Amino acid sequence: MITQIPNAAAATADSVDAARPGEDRVVLRDGSAIMIRPLITGDVATITAWFQGLGPRARRARFLSGVTKLDDRTRAQLAQVDHRDHEAVVAVTADGTVAGIARYIRLQHSAAAEVAVAVVDNWGGRGLASLLLQQIATRARTAGIRTFTALHLASNVAVPRLLSRLGPMTTTPRDTGIIEARISLESTRGASSSQGGTR
Ligand SMILES: CC(C)(COP(=O)(O)OP(=O)(O)OC[C@H]1O[C@@H](n2cnc3c(N)ncnc32)[C@H](O)[C@@H]1OP(=O)(O)O)[C@@H](O)C(=O)NCCC(=O)NCCS
Repeated sequence: MITQIPNAAAATADSVDAARPGEDRVVLRDGSAIMIRPLITGDVATITAWFQGLGPRARRARFLSGVTKLDDRTRAQLAQVDHRDHEAVVAVTADGTVAGIARYIRLQHSAAAEVAVAVVDNWGGRGLASLLLQQIATRARTAGIRTFTALHLASNVAVPRLLSRLGPMTTTPRDTGIIEARISLESTRGASSSQGGTR
C-alpha cells in the first residue's frame, strides 16, 4: 500500500526539486526522484506512514516478529531521535510517500550501534535501501560510531548483500533462524557512493 503524509511540508514535488540543508535529493535507478532527510524528532506521523507501507513479510523481516500494529509507545520511541545516539533517515517521494527509513541506535555508551532499514513494498528493488544505509552510515561515522550490528532473518538474503557494502562484515548465528551481522565502519568503503542506480 502506498502511504502518504497529508499536508507534510516535505511531501510535495517542489520539495524534492529543491533540497534544504540536511536534505539530499537523489535519483533512483528507475529515474524516480526522492528526498532523503533526517527524521524530525517526534515525527510520529512519518513512522505511522512508513509502517503502513510495509507488508506482513517486510514487517516480520524488520521487526523479527509478526507485529501487525505499532503501539503508541513504540511509535514514539522510533520517532525519538537525538541525531547522535539515535538517528533515522527517511526517504520521501515527490507525492509524499514515505518510502523507507534507516536508523541506528547506539549500544550503551559505546562506539557500536544497531542498524536497521525497511523500504515500503512498492518502492523495493530500486536501490533505495542501499542509499539509506549509506546515508545512515555516514551520519553514524560522524557521531563516532565505528561498528554497526544488525539482526536479520537467516532467510533474508538481501540484508548481507546490503550491509557488506558498508564495510567488512562478520556474521554469527543467534536464536533459531536469526543472524547477527557486525560491520566495521572504520574504512570509508561504501561512504562515498551516493548516486542512485549506479551500483
Ligand atoms: C531488504 C530491503 C531493505 C531491500 O530494500 P531495497 O530498496 O529493495 O534494496 P536495494 O534495491 O537497495 O537492493 C539491495 C540489494 O539487495 C538485493 N535484494 C533486494 N531485495 C531482495 C530480495 N527480496 N531477494 C534477494 N535479493 C534482494 C538486491 O538485488 C540488491 O543487490 P544487487 O544490487 O547486488 O542487485 C527491503 O526488501 C525491505 O525493507 N525488507 C523488509 C525489511 C528488512 O528486511 N529489513 C532488514 C532488517 S535489518
